[in-house]
Amino acid sequence: MGNIPLELFGKTLKNPVMNASGTLGYGKEIEPLWGVETLGCYVTKGLSMKPHHGNPLPRIWEEKCGMINSIGLQNIGIERFFREYFPFFKRKKTPVIVNFFGFTEDEYIGCAEMIKPDKQIVALEMNLSCPNIKKGGIGFGKEAETVYEIVKNVKTVTKIPLLAKLTPEVKNIVEIAVAAFEAGVDGLTLINTIPAAVVDVNKRTVPIKGGLSGPIARSVALRAVYECSKAVPIPIIGVGGIMDVRDALAFLMAGAQAVQVGTATFLDPYTIPKIIMELREYLDVNNYADVKNIIGITHDQ
Ligand SMILES: Cc1cc2nc3c(=O)[nH]c(=O)nc-3n(C[C@H](O)[C@H](O)[C@H](O)COP(=O)(O)O)c2cc1C
Repeated sequence: MGNIPLELFGKTLKNPVMNASGTLGYGKEIEPLWGVETLGCYVTKGLSMKPHHGNPLPRIWEEKCGMINSIGLQNIGIERFFREYFPFFKRKKTPVIVNFFGFTEDEYIGCAEMIKPDKQIVALEMNLSCPNIKKGGIGFGKEAETVYEIVKNVKTVTKIPLLAKLTPEVKNIVEIAVAAFEAGVDGLTLINTIPAAVVDVNKRTVPIKGGLSGPIARSVALRAVYECSKAVPIPIIGVGGIMDVRDALAFLMAGAQAVQVGTATFLDPYTIPKIIMELREYLDVNNYADVKNIIGITHDQ
């Protein structure tokens, strides 16, 4: 069988497949079907310094091309996650990436300070798609200068490797990736959801504005992974519309070291274990001894 363990920031993950932040609750919810130890790494829901209530309903909307969510980053806060859930991941020997966010730069810094290094923590994943209160709601991830500043400042308060998760809602994502790299980020997660809205024609209302994910995001995310992985020499985790093993392979071939699966789990909760199994089969059938051999293979064209 092809080898699928992956070295990431000095830690060995048993495979390169993770859940996307916010799409597997706090990890325990999937237990009746399969366990978090199946994952290469578990990615937490976005956590903040204090618990956050999120947005009013409706929060999820099914679209023809994917799904719109407006959860609004509801979460129990860093302190409670580490007290109530982290011991479960320790017991299961499952590596964790901690996704976090803030509404001000100080909150981002505060989050990074609160999360203490642990051999089970692979990285912090900084969600740069949040509104910046000081700049009148312009997201932190939209301008190269803001990204540079926030990454640089967060890096000074943590020894844990730092991933910047970028929004596609920018003029040029490569420019943002380069700014994050120059500020010292250790890796990138590409991409977050795409801003979207729904109109209810019968009621003549807009029932939900939120982030679009699923199949419609895939080609946007693939392009970001392909171009950013050529531009910066740091690991990239690809996410957006991965529904099956072929999609996962496309991201690895485009230059991603690992992939995350979100919306697909809502359609079929077994998508992640299936992708892991079929990735092994693909490597075998195609005589690849190691998953490393297909990462970025499209760059050789
Ligand atoms: C219900 C839901 C909640 C999400 N919550 C977060 C979050 O807390 N932090 C974050 O960085 N991304 C969050 N995301 C974005 C996903 O992690 C992922 O980047 C996006 O959905 C694209 O992947 P997909 O098409 O496989 O779902 C969320 C997505 C969904 C659908």
